[in-house]
Amino acid sequence: MSYSFSLEAILAIGLNDAIGNKGALPWHIPSELRLFKSITEGHTMIMGKNTFASLPSLLSNRHHIIISNSIPVTDGVHIVSSMSEALNKADELHSEKVFLIGGVSVFHEALHECSVIHVSRIMLTPEADTYFTFNPQHHRIDTSLCFRDPSTQVDVIYQRYGRII
Ligand SMILES: NC(=O)c1ccc[n+]([C@@H]2O[C@H](COP(=O)([O-])OP(=O)(O)OC[C@H]3O[C@@H](n4cnc5c(N)ncnc54)[C@H](OP(=O)(O)O)[C@@H]3O)[C@@H](O)[C@H]2O)c1
Repeated sequence: MSYSFSLEAILAIGLNDAIGNKGALPWHIPSELRLFKSITEGHTMIMGKNTFASLPSLLSNRHHIIISNSIPVTDGVHIVSSMSEALNKADELHSEKVFLIGGVSVFHEALHECSVIHVSRIMLTPEADTYFTFNPQHHRIDTSLCFRDPSTQVDVIYQRYGRII
């Protein structure tokens, strides 16, 4: 399917494929959160209901599209009932870039359609209750960089995957 915007995804994964725990991220890594902000700021995000609930507040300077069939109309966000409605809403918003930001069913449904996937490999094996196995078949790493978060000393490998087929 082709869109008038670049469809991208962004996720952070532990060594055990952990992505979430008790409705939040399984870690708190400030420099990784800054990386998320720098990549997504000024654009549109598509997320599931639980990911929306995990945000501390609305994220500045970004459109929020929430896929849910159970939450009521909420100020400042767009609520839709399916991925195809979410993509149509992103089109209406004239977004240049649209990021899938989770959770699991959002990634399962549309990650393969993304032109770019931003992955932070978190060098931890945390306690978790939400897992995602990232096994790209249509994407290859085109950029990679390692950094150590100064406040937690946790190592992170950022990998940018571009679509190959
Ligand atoms: N590490 C990361 O990169 C990352 C990214 C995102 C989230 N997380 C973490 O993961 C956890 C949340 O993720 P999650 O997988 O539990 O939940 P989620 O995908 O955020 O939310 C699930 C709910 O969203 C709706 N939904 C999602 N996708 C849908 C689809 N394609 N079609 C229709 N409805 C859809 C449904 O709500 P209704 O039942 O209302 O219809 C579903 O019950 C939290 O712990 C969060 O912190 C981590």
